[in-house]
Amino acid sequence: MARFYVTTPIYYVNDVPHIGHAYTTVAGDVLTRWRRLSGDEVFFLTGTDEHGLKVQRAAEARGVSPKELVDETAAQFRATWDALDIAYDDFIRTTEARHYAAVQKFLQTIYDNGDIELGTYEGLYCVSCEAYYTEDELVDGNCPIHLRPVELVVEENYFFRLSRFADRLLEYYAEHRDAVQPESRMNEVLGFIRGGLQDFSMSRTSIDWGVPLPWDPKHVAYVWADALFNYCTAVGYATDDERFAKWWPADYHLVGKDILRFHAVYWPAMLMAAGLEPPKHVFAHGWLLVGGEKMSKTGLNQIAPADLVADFGVDGFRYHFMVDQRFGPDGDFSYEAMVQRYNADLANNFGNLANRVLNMAMNYCGGVVPEVRADGPLREVAANAYSGLSEAMDRLDFASGFGAVWDLIRATNAYIEDSKPWALNKQGDSEGVARILGDCLESLRIVALLASPVIPNAGGELWRRLGLPGRPEDQRVPEAAAWGLLPAGATLEKGEPLFPRKEA
Ligand code: MSP
Repeated sequence: MARFYVTTPIYYVNDVPHIGHAYTTVAGDVLTRWRRLSGDEVFFLTGTDEHGLKVQRAAEARGVSPKELVDETAAQFRATWDALDIAYDDFIRTTEARHYAAVQKFLQTIYDNGDIELGTYEGLYCVSCEAYYTEDELVDGNCPIHLRPVELVVEENYFFRLSRFADRLLEYYAEHRDAVQPESRMNEVLGFIRGGLQDFSMSRTSIDWGVPLPWDPKHVAYVWADALFNYCTAVGYATDDERFAKWWPADYHLVGKDILRFHAVYWPAMLMAAGLEPPKHVFAHGWLLVGGEKMSKTGLNQIAPADLVADFGVDGFRYHFMVDQRFGPDGDFSYEAMVQRYNADLANNFGNLANRVLNMAMNYCGGVVPEVRADGPLREVAANAYSGLSEAMDRLDFASGFGAVWDLIRATNAYIEDSKPWALNKQGDSEGVARILGDCLESLRIVALLASPVIPNAGGELWRRLGLPGRPEDQRVPEAAAWGLLPAGATLEKGEPLFPRKEA
């Protein structure tokens, strides 16, 4: 059994969960469920990024302590993932003691190895904010918040000597061509490294909401220098060596394109500096745009997952974001497109097929599964659904993967149209009817199984209505995807429509 470790970014708690966050997390979940179905032992990690100036500021703005703010928002993230049936194994929070211990050991190792050094940081500082600004953040040369002059301040900071790692990173990527995906993102990363790497300041003395550096505790770690390490903390770094050795390096870090550099340049370099292996793959997906813009607090265009779940259900939500656009490029979200796709793929294709097949089987076959032909005409399409899904999932191409499963749905619907079991029934050809419906029921079984990573509830319910014991997720593919496993004689149940149609 292979082990498979997949992560989402840990989300900032100065914001509440929106569909952009959910996009990455659902993708991680679908991948997790698929790998489990394929027999892997999977560890799926998500969590919250709770340190740093942004959080400290957000807390101040609300007049609460950072701790109160992070407890509240972390709970909201967790509740959102629970509501979306996210099967995460651990929810890490960077304010936990285990994370402090791990980060301190990690940074101390890099410091001892000589790749963290004291230097001076020069920047434009607003005393009221206790924060640095870059030239272009200023408003008429003033602090954008207090609208007062900023000062040129020189501060002692620790620097991570990133500039020393360019060759090692290029060498690593030359040997691991697929370590950054999709390929266009690899080119972006290589271009960035070749353009020259600057050392970066990895500590702050201006804030105290962070992990203190063990060798100089008036400094706290810069938020990214602490956040990235969550991926190691969660699998036992500094607390359980055996467990860490089992799970590290991660198989996939799923990230948005906005944080690719942190994950594909800073992170592997820091790991190398500590003598640890870089992650096997970083996959950067595009943004979900709303009205052509990235969702943001200030843009007031954020959509809460719960609002869409109320209209489309958990499965409808999950399906839409995995299938409506490729996982990679940017994609526009629109409510109208969501209604359309829901009606076309879930209400019509999936829902209707289940409905009409079960209905006919109730009426024409006495509500039990007839004998399934071992060489039914849908057999080959079903085999393609499995191989298509499997190949696409290896590339994290969710849309094509489930597209292959929906091809089986469409082919089964077409088979019903062509073979007209209702006409055969009228003619009294009960053997012919049983043959056709047996094939269709078998096809439904395979659909329920293969669609279950993305629509776990509907998949499980269909499985149950087919009279099958257990749940799809207890099965193993490819074995369970083989044709002809639906036991004859099982009792069927028609049930209510799985995806009621939506009015546009
Ligand atoms: N805390 C850092 C990540 C640290 S990981 C060690 C962070 N957090 S974030 O909450 O601002 O964003 C995290 C991720 O949320 C993004 O990389 C992306 O995966 C996802 N998204 C946030 N907005 C998004 C969209 N509008 N569209 C798609 N994904 C988006 O950065």
